[in-house]
Amino acid sequence: MRMYDLITKKRNGGVLSPEEIVYMVEGYTKGDIPDYQMSAMMMAIYFQGMTKEETLQLTLSMAHSGDMLDLSGISGVKVDKHSTGGVGDKTSLALTPMVAACGCKVAKMSGRGLGHTGGTIDKLESIPGFHTDIAIDTFEKNVNEIGIAIMGQTKDLAPADKKLYALRDVTATVDQISLIASSIMSKKLACGADAIVLDVKTGSGAFMKQEADAVSLAKEMTEIGNGAGRKTIAVITDMDQPLGYAVGNALEVIEAIQTLKGEGPADFTKLCLTLGSYMLLAGGIAETKGQAEEMLRQTIEDGSALTKLAEFIKAQGGDPAYIYDPSLFQLAKIREEVCAKESGFLQKIVCDEVGICSLLLGGGREKKEDTIDPAVGLVLHKKKGDPVQAGESLATIYANDPEKLLQAKERFLQAITIGAEKPEESPLIKQVIS
Ligand code: URA
Repeated sequence: MRMYDLITKKRNGGVLSPEEIVYMVEGYTKGDIPDYQMSAMMMAIYFQGMTKEETLQLTLSMAHSGDMLDLSGISGVKVDKHSTGGVGDKTSLALTPMVAACGCKVAKMSGRGLGHTGGTIDKLESIPGFHTDIAIDTFEKNVNEIGIAIMGQTKDLAPADKKLYALRDVTATVDQISLIASSIMSKKLACGADAIVLDVKTGSGAFMKQEADAVSLAKEMTEIGNGAGRKTIAVITDMDQPLGYAVGNALEVIEAIQTLKGEGPADFTKLCLTLGSYMLLAGGIAETKGQAEEMLRQTIEDGSALTKLAEFIKAQGGDPAYIYDPSLFQLAKIREEVCAKESGFLQKIVCDEVGICSLLLGGGREKKEDTIDPAVGLVLHKKKGDPVQAGESLATIYANDPEKLLQAKERFLQAITIGAEKPEESPLIKQVIS
């Protein structure tokens, strides 16, 4: 087989056979196929697309390019959850302890921030000592004993995806639905969970700005997951404004803790109950969605979800005192209100811009090697549809650098539209695809 012939075939709209895809992924992972040939192949796929069979084979080949975790030694159904990324999306922080407190086993691989979106690992690392570089046997032991473990992508998990993702990032081939679906799902399959709940975001703060694209991505991912024998459900959810009020690493951990105490924002609490109920159904813990939601609400009321979060943080080296006393988090020294210039209704928030404000403050990375400042970010005081008076605070900015504060403030004001008409409400949960 020759890579040249495979590139020609795909360029001309042909369908690659399973053997050809295996040859290409194995050759690229080993370094036998050079970046320039793989770049040409990615661009050919970008324009010609892939069939369902090709996408499934690409995903399986990437998943099998490294370690495949075997969680069969852990009793019960192991469930993973994945979000395609958003702003203020701290869902995993609150959702996983709620679900684990109901007896469901959560074996989760998480990522770091990407572009304007935050990452679960960066947020959890706001808690002193917490880390996700745990050995596989510790991961398995924690899932078994505590009910939750979270690890990052190691060099041995789906290494083909790691290499290909970096290549796509610099060759303008990231935003192709089959390539995104196979990239995400290869990591999910390698991580070994039996069931996967996907939160596919759509709106101005999501990678998929249009709902139709989010639906196509969700369909591809659920087909891959179910085709690979893992029960997979996707929920399409709104990301046209930040989720909850807090955006920024430590600020989001604090909001997740408040949610587990029953004092969280309504939209964020609803999302946790919805995704959590699909996790409990997939895990065989509940029989109906109503029963699942009731069980999850109970973990907030009786404090068991908060205790579970503290247990999980401790097991991965973090200081659980922060969970019981969030005032221990050292937030940024400079706090400034951003005030409305006019009265009316908050009509629109360009959500990815709010993510960029947090990034500019130091809450995200401009370059791969940048370190995160966990103390910075924003807390919104108004959401879409809220009435606003001129001079009223729209958000508090937490900054450690006056220059960055000015940039973020300017950008935040540009991202907001206030007008006389109350905007139409857009539903948080848009569709469920299984
Ligand atoms: N996240 C991934 O893991 N892969 C993609 O291709 C896009 C987002």
